[in-house]
Amino acid sequence: MFKSAPLAAAVLIALGWSTPGHSQDAEAGETVFKKCKSCHQVGAGAENRAGPVLTGVVGRSAGTYDAFKYSPSLSAAGEQGLVWTEPLLVEYLEDPTAFLRTRLEDGKARSGMSFKLKDEQDRKDVVAYILAESSTDTAEAEPDAEKSDEPAMSDDEVIAAQTFEEAFLTDPSNFEAGKEIWFEQCTHCHGYKAYPGKAPKLKPAKYKPEFVFKRVYKGFKKMPAWKDTYTVDEIRQVVAYVKDPGFSP
Ligand code: HEC
Ligand code: HEC
Repeated sequence: MFKSAPLAAAVLIALGWSTPGHSQDAEAGETVFKKCKSCHQVGAGAENRAGPVLTGVVGRSAGTYDAFKYSPSLSAAGEQGLVWTEPLLVEYLEDPTAFLRTRLEDGKARSGMSFKLKDEQDRKDVVAYILAESSTDTAEAEPDAEKSDEPAMSDDEVIAAQTFEEAFLTDPSNFEAGKEIWFEQCTHCHGYKAYPGKAPKLKPAKYKPEFVFKRVYKGFKKMPAWKDTYTVDEIRQVVAYVKDPGFSP
């Protein structure tokens, strides 16, 4: 779509979305939001997942979305009057725990969100995207439009349909594509630097590729499902990466 920056900026200005002083790009933010999708939904009909619904989060008291069980620290910040604004969200996303520690003046405060988004432009863009998705006219029916080109199969049917040939698993282009997804999405729970307790250390030699596909596609307990974030082909590529002897967490 609006991949070129000047064009995107022009479109955003035309729509009145740009904020003077810092440029934000909701289109670019849609791509960044892939990193959030395993835990958050946004737009009409969004539901709580591992993280709370983000529709309308700008202007909302922190830690107050219905029926979501927030950490004591984020709830406390909300009770003390923290209301999310765009600049505060941009700050929060860089390091949620550090943000809460400063805010609450409590060195032991802890965020329930372990994810950090380092790049400042990415943070601005993703907040612009969340804002755009929160307005009623853009939020309509989009999830359905996305899903309509997928075959009407149940999760279990999709999983049962997967077979992994040696040729697929050893194809270097699958390895590379899967590796990229791994480092973007999986290392903050499964990487060697993830603090203990986030997720088990993977033992790829013990898994059948079909098992890895099933876990990644559908999730399991605290392991998020990725079927709404990635296509079946992309998930197959992650499987190829995890099953490769060159896999390194
Ligand atoms: C691994 C799961 C996970 C990922 C990935 C994740 N979050 Fe979160 N997020 C959470 C959880 C859990 C909370 C609740 C934090 C708490 O209770 O302290 C949260 C809270 C938030 C809040 C505060 C919401 C409120 O109602 O006060 C915002 C805003 C947010 N996340 C945005 C994002 C964005 C944007 C991304 C992607 C760049 C992202 N999150 C990625 C799990 C995640
Ligand atoms: C929010 C943290 C989190 C993220 C991000 C995450 N996982 Fe997991 N994963 C888990 C947890 C927790 C489990 C254990 C679930 C259980 O069995 O209770 C798990 C289990 C798994 C398993 C099964 C392991 C076993 O021995 O049973 C596989 C395979 C896996 N994850 C792959 C991935 C891949 C590939 C990605 C990236 C696309 C990913 N995970 C991202 C938390 C995460």
